[in-house]
Amino acid sequence: MKKTESKNANRINLAIFASGQGSNFSAIVKSLKNNKKLGSIVLVCDQPQAYVIRRAGRSRIKVILVSRQDFRTRNDFESAIISRLQAHRINLIALAGFMRILSPAFVKRFHQKIINIHPSLLPAFKGAQAIKDAFKHKASVTGVTVHFVDRQVDHGAVILQETVKIRKQETLTSLEKRIHAVEHQLYPRVIQLFLDGRIILRGNRVRLG
Ligand code: GRF
Repeated sequence: MKKTESKNANRINLAIFASGQGSNFSAIVKSLKNNKKLGSIVLVCDQPQAYVIRRAGRSRIKVILVSRQDFRTRNDFESAIISRLQAHRINLIALAGFMRILSPAFVKRFHQKIINIHPSLLPAFKGAQAIKDAFKHKASVTGVTVHFVDRQVDHGAVILQETVKIRKQETLTSLEKRIHAVEHQLYPRVIQLFLDGRIILRGNRVRLG
């Protein structure tokens, strides 16, 4: 093996899956793009009109656009994604507002290689309205979770969590803003831990090495 090949073999090639705004996508790219331990970054997007595609263009990140409607079955859709990921030798997938549930077969295929960010302190407030739900329930504290993805939605071993206190004068908008600000710090931090080989998963528990 040539020297450069062995160097690349240890690198992480990251696919960020996103369907919408892509503020987490940008935070990750900004913080890690020039990291020497990162081989490459690609964006996987299922929405041709998503704003995240423009962000990727501005950062010169390769976009893999795969629309569900172009495929007869979910299996065909996911197979198309898998072959593109294989072509790019992807070995870490970060879901960042990807609005599709991945099948158990897909999750198994990338066992311990898929992570997700969720805007609550899981297991509290699962689902697509997590910030609103915490606000409506008048919770005194909520937060952000980055976790491994398993077969269940918003479930799987927690990697890092950070709390966000809900203030007396809080509005939904201010809470959303504060949660997103925490996300933009936390997600790059977790990916950096991957790059440093510091995340050890034993059963359903994460230990930082
Ligand atoms: C974030 O709040 C993330 O926690 C959730 O989806 C949202 C994506 O936002 N999973 P953006 O597209 O990264 O701006």
